[in-house]
Amino acid sequence: MREIIIFDTTLRDGEQSPGVNLNREEKLELAKQLARLGVDVIEAGFPIASPGDFEAVTRISREIDGPIIAGLARARREDIEQAARALEKARRPRIHTFIATSPIHMQHKLRKTPEEVLSLAREAVELARSYVDDVEFSAEDATRSERPFLCQVLAEVIAAGATTVNIPDTVGYTTPDEFTELITYIKQHTPGIDKVTISVHCHNDLGLAVANSLAAIAAGATQVEGTINGLGERAGNAALEEIVMALRTRADRFGAKTRLVTEQIYRTSRMVSTLTGVAVQPNKAIVGENAFAHESGIHQHGMLMNRATYEIMTPQSIGLAQSRMVLGKLSGRHALKERLREMGYELSEEELNRTYQRFIELADRKKQVSDRDLQALLEEQMTQVEEKFTLEYLQVSTGNTTVPTATVRIRCGDQVMEEAACGDGPVDAAYKAIDRVTRIETHLVAYSLGAVTGGKDALGEVAVQVRDNGTIITGRGTSTDIIQASAKAYLQAINKLVKLRQEAGQTEQTGRTAPQTI
Ligand code: KIV
Ligand code: ZN
Repeated sequence: MREIIIFDTTLRDGEQSPGVNLNREEKLELAKQLARLGVDVIEAGFPIASPGDFEAVTRISREIDGPIIAGLARARREDIEQAARALEKARRPRIHTFIATSPIHMQHKLRKTPEEVLSLAREAVELARSYVDDVEFSAEDATRSERPFLCQVLAEVIAAGATTVNIPDTVGYTTPDEFTELITYIKQHTPGIDKVTISVHCHNDLGLAVANSLAAIAAGATQVEGTINGLGERAGNAALEEIVMALRTRADRFGAKTRLVTEQIYRTSRMVSTLTGVAVQPNKAIVGENAFAHESGIHQHGMLMNRATYEIMTPQSIGLAQSRMVLGKLSGRHALKERLREMGYELSEEELNRTYQRFIELADRKKQVSDRDLQALLEEQMTQVEEKFTLEYLQVSTGNTTVPTATVRIRCGDQVMEEAACGDGPVDAAYKAIDRVTRIETHLVAYSLGAVTGGKDALGEVAVQVRDNGTIITGRGTSTDIIQASAKAYLQAINKLVKLRQEAGQTEQTGRTAPQTI
């Protein structure tokens, strides 16, 4: 079996999704989870793009051991030097440099001749190799490039020291048969190609990213790039979990395997969705809520006879274990710890204490606490931010004949502030009351509410996005009371915003009168 290298770019290409903005701590948390998942390469960011990206790549390089850490750089000296600085502490650093090779990109975006592109590519790889031994070169928009020129560029960068050459389908234009032809052509017409890793990087504009990636693997590619949940610009990147499970489930066709710990897939998918605020569609392959659900009677009957009748892979193989143990308020700390361990979470004593506290509060309101409830509690803790404002009290009054009104009491340091407001509905009223206390101007751009499990006593999960000067910030809250979940999510977004502004050296309340204190 050939071994396929899994290159994860959730933190770089995935973060380029509209509305997605991860802070440094969130990126580090995700990188830790990607390492647990067993990806071979983590593309941690684009260090020249912003100080935040630089810092994230630096921290991930310092703290993550195991996977190769890659930093992206255009084929420019300043980009490559910045990437090299960010990767200084990485045990296994990789500089990933790229330049476009298609006529349309060279003429209209770069305004460079093919000869200029060729020498920029060569120089970039030579410079990158002067810093690290592991250099990846990407020919951006490769699938719309002229094949002989593409091979000439690849041969040149291989001679200059590239160790991986990547063939991106940047605009998601190719088809599986065409991509098979392209990889075959490259293998036949590129001197030195047998000495390097051939990688592919597919976008999903025509919904073909995973199919194209698999076609390329079958044609001889040995590295595949993608993101968790298929996150990414426009229609996204190839979903890594789909590629990996296709290789595993159809090993008979592909004769290829990966090092991925597939049992960590579901947890990673949830984490990406929670931290980015981008929901996973219910019928999404592998990680959608319905991917292992069987509704029709005929299917259920078949499943009872033999699960393989309608299940081509087990939920356990992606880490969706079916619990035999039901937890409730009489379950002790030990039972909780054991269940969490079965679900793949090893918590420190302190984390376990915090989770147990929240578990008992939840079990008081809900008879049975399911695995999904526990997962939601853990995600809530994972996304906890430093709180400038803490919600101490919330009361709403609403009904079909009354004006919805909310009162909130919020702690800010040793000040406790209380405000009330009316609104179109109870959530609107609560948000207006919170605005009055915090005095932070935000624009709520998205609000979504979902139930974590079925049942009338289900945990409600609210995700919000607020915009602050073009930056989108997400907040998340869970509670069996949906107004409380809504308030928690909104206040979390505000707390994140305060931190961002502080980091950017701004003061958030200049020129405003002091809020009412009680
Ligand atoms: O899609 C693309 O071409 C890219 C490159 C930078 C690899 O993301
Ligand atoms: Zn891309």
